[in-house]
Amino acid sequence: SPWHYQFRIIMLGDSTVGKSSLLKRYSEGVFHESMNQTVGVDFYVHFMEIEAGLRVKLQFWDTAGQERFRSVTRSYYRNSAGGMLMFDLTNRASFESIRNWHQEVVDTVKPHQVVFLLVGHKSDLEVERKVGHKEAEKLASSLGAKYIETSAKSNSNVEEAFQMLTLGIHEA
Ligand code: GTP
Ligand code: MG
Repeated sequence: SPWHYQFRIIMLGDSTVGKSSLLKRYSEGVFHESMNQTVGVDFYVHFMEIEAGLRVKLQFWDTAGQERFRSVTRSYYRNSAGGMLMFDLTNRASFESIRNWHQEVVDTVKPHQVVFLLVGHKSDLEVERKVGHKEAEKLASSLGAKYIETSAKSNSNVEEAFQMLTLGIHEA
């Protein structure tokens, strides 16, 4: 099918934050309580109409959060237009890793620029929340990114997150 632009988007964040689940919800409309950890990198394609008659092909690289795959995943950072920096709202350590994920991409791709979106995920687990909305917004703005909270389980803000990032890339 015809498309006008092609954007590569890389999914980043610690293991188990829900990168694969967010993509699965977006591209297949499903959620699984039990998911295999990603080995290396998985690849997805999705089309989005960002305005009437303007179709964009989105190519997603869903990277493994586990450290042992880092040398493999790093080789996919190049040529990416956008990056979803994801943490788990119930996992403080995953929030604290965000600066490292961001820095690693910036160091790998420069002088090329990547548009980032910060995603606080698993918003359905509000009672277990360990990261406040305000501090996450503050981190996002310090990285020049926008912030959104999502849930693949309750299907909250899933379309919105991908739209925000895609429009951000389009407008950059
Ligand atoms: P790696 O591939 O190892 O980097 O992990 P990942 O970031 O891809 O995480 P994955 O999508 O595999 O999800 C890890 C676990 O979190 C799974 O048990 C999911 O069912 C669960 N999970 C993912 N998204 C959500 C969510 O929105 N809410 C809740 N409650 N659980 C979620
Ligand atoms: Mg995964």
